[in-house]
Amino acid sequence: MKKLVIEGGKPLHGTVKISGAKNAALPLMAATLLAPGVHILNNVPDLRDTRTILRLLESLGLTWEREGSTLRIDGTGLKYSEASYELVKTMRASVLVLGPLLARLGRAKVSLPGGCAIGARPINFHLMGFEQLGVQCDLEGGYVDAISPGRLQGNNVYFDIPSVTGTENILMAATLAEGTTIIKNAAKEPEIGNLIDMLCSMGANIEGKGSDRLEIQGVEKLTAAESRIIPDRIEAGTYAIAVAATGGDAIIQNCDPSHLPSLVDKLRLAGVEVEVGEDFLHILAEEKKTQIKAVDVTTLPYPGYPTDLQAQFMALMTGSNGVSVIHETIFENRFMHVAELQRMGADIKIDGRIAMVKGRSGLPLTGAQVMATDLRASSSLVIAGLAASGRTDISRIYHLERGYEDIVGKLSGLGATVWKEDE
Ligand code: EPU
Repeated sequence: MKKLVIEGGKPLHGTVKISGAKNAALPLMAATLLAPGVHILNNVPDLRDTRTILRLLESLGLTWEREGSTLRIDGTGLKYSEASYELVKTMRASVLVLGPLLARLGRAKVSLPGGCAIGARPINFHLMGFEQLGVQCDLEGGYVDAISPGRLQGNNVYFDIPSVTGTENILMAATLAEGTTIIKNAAKEPEIGNLIDMLCSMGANIEGKGSDRLEIQGVEKLTAAESRIIPDRIEAGTYAIAVAATGGDAIIQNCDPSHLPSLVDKLRLAGVEVEVGEDFLHILAEEKKTQIKAVDVTTLPYPGYPTDLQAQFMALMTGSNGVSVIHETIFENRFMHVAELQRMGADIKIDGRIAMVKGRSGLPLTGAQVMATDLRASSSLVIAGLAASGRTDISRIYHLERGYEDIVGKLSGLGATVWKEDE
């Protein structure tokens, strides 16, 4: 196993290019199950998670080839409908094959993902939605066995809480259903808009993109098309926060700033200068000029502040000049990074879903040996390590490799001293 080693204390400078979004690539790749023919996906990041979903698609009978960041996935050979525990346990987004398999084959057997490091994360909303479309879902031996007696039937699906992958699964299932499906209280994340664009270019009929009410007129068949994965807003946000935390000055290139409305405001409130371009963010936070101010954050569904950038912002707040209150409302156990940040000298108290971060007024954290527990917790440790004095060793970096393409290369390009080493 590899660990990541960082010699901290250097402000980040230069330009970093953002990759395609993991959380858009996964549903778009799953959507290739909906139609035979060769689907072309551009700007696909090469990550542990995108490799996992390719293995899953292969296990269902699909073939694919990759050239740079372009993937050609042939949906013609689909013949199996079962996603094994072995694959689903390594990546819970594997449940995204449920919707398209049900739409195309009328049958899907997918292992239940189980809990993960950030919370219980049930899939009851997905199953409720499928049942509304006429699917019978049984739970047996750790698997969801879902069968539709005939073509799926359009219906109303209301989510108690807007679920991102839940919305994506029902969207994909409803494209080939008979009649109209209306998803109410749908999630509005930009990745869902990306999926809607792909489905529409395949011949689906969907209205309401960007809103919490999606109306899908089912069609009889879809055809393969070409799509582009949107830039990864969480990767962009992570680098933006890293530049701020190290007191650097850098450009986050190839991103879509309109997908990061809350982060830009929070950074500005923290005293960081942010220049917003069409496809870039320029973060100006040189040490002597910027004294990071304490800012409160509450995570919320889009366009609220993303839970996937909570841990990273907390790392920034450890260097602020006051007390920041961070409220995690999406997942019940997403403070696993706190104990590791404390090992680096951070002053953080947790009460349920609220963390109080007392900033060190510009005094850097100190490097330490820390452990990554999940993807975003890992990236907060990277930010802390970059801002800290001395050496930080982050073990279990396979978590980081799930969601950050070439993180060592990108950070080195910004002037950081960082490398991978055997544990
Ligand atoms: N929920 C339920 N029942 C369900 C589905 C969700 O109770 O059937 C609850 C969840 O437990 C959570 C809330 O609803 O409290 C929202 O969860 P959501 O379903 O939106 O999360 P998700 O679709 O499983 C996606 C991202 C996550 C991201 C969340 C929230 C993908 C592949 N994953 O997960 O990304 O944190 O939305 O924005 O899109 C990450 O990239 O590190 C990551 C965890």
